[in-house]
Amino acid sequence: TTRILTGITTSGTPHLGNYAGALRPAIAASQRADAESFYFLADYHALIKTGGDPARVHRSTLEIAATWLAAGLDTERVWFYRQSDIPEIPELTWLLTCVASKGLLNRAHAYKAAVDKNLAEGEDPDAGVNMGLFMYPVLMAADILMFKAHSVPVGRDQIQHIEMARDIAARFNHLYGEHFVLPEAAIDESVATLPGLDGRKMSKSYDNTIPLFSSSAELKKLIASIVTDSRAPGEPKDPEGSALFELYQAFSTPEQTEAMRAAFAGGIAWGEAKQALFEQIDTAVAPMRERYQALIAQPELIEARLKEGAAKARSIATPFLAELRRAVGLRNLG
Ligand code: TYM
Repeated sequence: TTRILTGITTSGTPHLGNYAGALRPAIAASQRADAESFYFLADYHALIKTGGDPARVHRSTLEIAATWLAAGLDTERVWFYRQSDIPEIPELTWLLTCVASKGLLNRAHAYKAAVDKNLAEGEDPDAGVNMGLFMYPVLMAADILMFKAHSVPVGRDQIQHIEMARDIAARFNHLYGEHFVLPEAAIDESVATLPGLDGRKMSKSYDNTIPLFSSSAELKKLIASIVTDSRAPGEPKDPEGSALFELYQAFSTPEQTEAMRAAFAGGIAWGEAKQALFEQIDTAVAPMRERYQALIAQPELIEARLKEGAAKARSIATPFLAELRRAVGLRNLG
């Protein structure tokens, strides 16, 4: 069997990039007969960015849990849990911290971007940077290594983190014996970086997202605001680098995508292409949107599922952490 694991940070409302890049491939993978899947809500990671906004973390956790369930996650088959319900994860984070080299973490994109921005602005390099941002990849390594995941379905922005998890795992194995599986990123190339409204990567930090569960009317309005060039109806359009085309592709069959490519060459009007994109996404999302609305109205039901999931996940994490504690020379109580 293959172990598959992925998480979503609970710092906002899930968007089409999260869905196409991570949720959709993860749900499909979990249906394979030879797969064991671990999908979780990364609420410890959320604290890095949402410091001082507890209501947002709480709300987002509920929304993202409801999204997984609405997207068709089967809690009988899948280990579905909230990161902060598994105390073994922060404990493993410390064991990994003590083998992770600082130089490795200095190179993490998110931390480096914050430092580079400060330097460019003539500030102290670490101004406004918390240790959570610096340690982010170690916590993520603990998430992955705890459950011996082989395959981690993610968007392109997470590849470096998974390589760091491999590095840290290899270092631990070298020092203490073969305890960890070295994970690999599983990237769906056609949606590895879904663009947002402005053509940059769809991201909460760029404020260019299309929420997965916008109403039909909102969805239509957002799609109308996607940037396009100024080519008039009748003029051939270039699918290369077109956010509209890439979004269309992410929600279409290969045949539909080829038909749209031909329509671009034939000079389809932007308005018409946007209408086609709207219909494509709305059709894909509508049944999920209904299930989502029903679920979000029953937080106690979601909470019950997460509690069961935590117990299931801990039945793996507790004995494994005991094994690791012994391996590094710590004593286990009881
Ligand atoms: P997060 O919450 O930023 O994003 C969740 C998933 O969505 C993917 N994604 C995208 N994919 C394609 N195009 C986009 N525009 C786009 N935007 C986001 C991300 O690549 C990710 O797969 N650190 C992780 C959460 C995490 C995790 C883990 C993931 C914590 N522990 C262990 C895997 C394994 C994060 O912040 O993702």
